Amino acid sequence: MKRLLLSLVLVLPLLAGCTKKDNVITIGEYDSMSGSDATFGLSSNKGVRLAFDEINAAGGIKGKKVDLKMMDDQGKNEEAASAVTRLITSNKVVAIIGGVASGRSKASAPIAQSHKVPFVSPASTNPDVTKVGDYVFRVCFIDPFQGLVMAKFASENLKVKKAAVLRDVKNDYSVGLADVFVQEFKKRGGEIVTDLSYQAGDIDFKAQLTQIRSKNPDAIYVPGYYTEVGLIAQQARQLGIKAPLLGGDGWDSDKLSEIGKEAINGNYYSNHYTTESTDPAVTEFIKKFKAKYNETPDALAALGYDAAKILAAAIERAPDLSGQAIRDELAKTKDFAGVTGKITLNENRDAVKSAVVIQVDGKNRKFITTITP
Ligand code: PHE
Repeated sequence: MKRLLLSLVLVLPLLAGCTKKDNVITIGEYDSMSGSDATFGLSSNKGVRLAFDEINAAGGIKGKKVDLKMMDDQGKNEEAASAVTRLITSNKVVAIIGGVASGRSKASAPIAQSHKVPFVSPASTNPDVTKVGDYVFRVCFIDPFQGLVMAKFASENLKVKKAAVLRDVKNDYSVGLADVFVQEFKKRGGEIVTDLSYQAGDIDFKAQLTQIRSKNPDAIYVPGYYTEVGLIAQQARQLGIKAPLLGGDGWDSDKLSEIGKEAINGNYYSNHYTTESTDPAVTEFIKKFKAKYNETPDALAALGYDAAKILAAAIERAPDLSGQAIRDELAKTKDFAGVTGKITLNENRDAVKSAVVIQVDGKNRKFITTITP
């Protein structure tokens, strides 16, 4: 009897641990929750949490609740890589919702690939991100398209003939997008009057802007992240530059207007969705998001939500929870009705979707036009 009791005492906690683990599906996420791109991580995590809360309320995936492990990469490539390692080796996640910033996805996706853990980036647009391997996916369009969108808008809608470029040389996303813009703008008969650079963390852009002013461009393409773009807008106006600034999705943050103030108003950027859409999928999402967080979701929140829903659907369809099974189902994603559009993952594991052009107007984001691939 004593023996039996003793063995029960030893075995019960094991059984309990086992049941607890069997009842949940652990999914990892990492992103910048602090640092100069903090709104990227904060927003996409809000979208991801909203999606998993809804899924859990409806019974979970395969009858199991999703347990989301979130890690802060502080906006640093090395931290992104170590977050992915920890999620895989310590938390034993079945899949990872990857980073927003392309540089951080490029630094961490190879680790997921080598462990055969599916990795889905909500918002990294640099083409190299999914080239890492067959376990790496994204639910957004890529920069060869995004750069074309702004080149087309500049030449056709704004009738820009001479453009200047100001790129963040330490940012893979910024460099890639700038290169595509230059190429596409020239193809359309435009002239690049100067192509200058800065580095994230810089606060004084007057030297570059003075040079740009001397070339008198019709527009300035600044494909950076919101913190520097806000400062660049301020300093451009202080120097008397009136030409519009043009940019990409890296502008999309409420902080852009807080930093850029009135100087950022009237400028244009390409993005993944518009809050002005009347599509019920969008209006419904905005309503639920506002009810939960009391704020309007930016594109990252919408992409995070779509990434989580697409991953959950793939896990639900997969015959088991192995990386291979989940990966194979992710690759079959077709016509998924997302908030950011209809999502089909192509043979490169990228989504092909339209982009919108947005004009900044204080905290408002005015929808200007949609450009389809
Ligand atoms: N596309 C950006 C990158 O690859 C990230 C981003 C997406 C930022 C959407 C804001 C909004 O680095």
